[in-house]
Amino acid sequence: MSDQLPVPSPDAQAASRELSACIAACIRTVGGWLSFADYMDMALHLPGLGYYAGGSHKFGTEGDFVTAPELTPLFGQALARQVAQVLGAVPPAPTLPHVLEVGAGSGKLAADLLLALEALDALPARYEILELSGELRARQRQTIEAAVPHLAARVVWLDELPEKFSGCVIANELLDALPVHAVAWREDGLKERGVILCGEGFGWAEERPAQGALAEAMAALPVEAPFESEVGLAARAWVAEWGRRLERGALLLVDYGLPRHELYHPLRNRGTLRCHYRQRMHEDLFWWPGLSDITTHVDFTAVAEAGFDAGLDVLGYTNQAAFLINCGIGELLATRQAAGGEQALRAASALQMLLAPREMGEMFKAIALGKGIDAPLLGFAHGDRCHTL
Ligand SMILES: C[S@@+](CC[C@H](N)C(=O)[O-])C[C@H]1O[C@@H](n2cnc3c(N)ncnc32)[C@H](O)[C@@H]1O
Repeated sequence: MSDQLPVPSPDAQAASRELSACIAACIRTVGGWLSFADYMDMALHLPGLGYYAGGSHKFGTEGDFVTAPELTPLFGQALARQVAQVLGAVPPAPTLPHVLEVGAGSGKLAADLLLALEALDALPARYEILELSGELRARQRQTIEAAVPHLAARVVWLDELPEKFSGCVIANELLDALPVHAVAWREDGLKERGVILCGEGFGWAEERPAQGALAEAMAALPVEAPFESEVGLAARAWVAEWGRRLERGALLLVDYGLPRHELYHPLRNRGTLRCHYRQRMHEDLFWWPGLSDITTHVDFTAVAEAGFDAGLDVLGYTNQAAFLINCGIGELLATRQAAGGEQALRAASALQMLLAPREMGEMFKAIALGKGIDAPLLGFAHGDRCHTL
């Protein structure tokens, strides 16, 4: 399949070779067998060379994949209504409620949200961004300064999660980019899949017995051998961290994924690890490391459990279509349509992508986890009866 992918430019190939040399050195250092989670982490995030840390275009029609905010500002405008409700429910003392976006991509969602929150008279004193990639931080700053120069001073970049936070945390397509362990349930036990050196590149290693937290997580899943899949310990740990750090407010997480009984269904016995390169999906995880995005479907049951166990309430869970409709995306489109012209047509076709069940409407889900929020959240008000965790 990977021989049908566009050939990377000489510069991109050189960057990938450099990254591969670092991964190879790491494999030698650890004795020849690297956990797939560590391989994925390096391939995506190794400073200067990993997929998100390097200079490729990534988002939008010119890049490798398109995310909801890259499709249309209607996504950010609808989300803003939910963010405004959360901010309004958090008292301004002892600390002012802020917005924190984690994994802000090109900065498009931040710019759209700031404008929409201004229109709703719900601007936070600070809009914080936590972004691992230095290259993307610079791009986010440029986007925000160009699109909303009068609001740019409110935006602050953090280097790590804040020790304590009140307000609204947003992450669109963050959880699917966190490293996962590749695992297998075999007749002779629970196994972890690793990566070895293979000729000039990398290949799958012989499986090793899964251990510790990974083995515990696998044993708790409703799976019968033989079965291959992934376990996202990093996503669980990320959510659990918020139990300690969130004082009052909510996390709004949007991503593609499934509840556990669907994700670990016998029909998905080869897992959901995929790569994206220039708008094409492929399954060759070792093809030019660092040039493709690597993702998996999020286990939303695990996300809810990790939050709940850490002291967060599960405030809502539904698919993206229901969430956006509940947030009034239909009315927002109608206002656009009234203006007519090409823009109105473009907005209608973007909305079709966001809402249609065969596009992003059903595969993407929204979940809200929070503390000290009593009012029902508007994004989850209707239509989620069939979405159970
Ligand atoms: C798939 S992109 C989504 C970008 C953006 N939210 C959007 O919807 O267009 C994932 C983003 O998360 C960032 N990221 C990945 N892991 C992260 C982490 N542990 N902390 C902060 N940002 C992270 C990436 O650099 C990138 O900006």
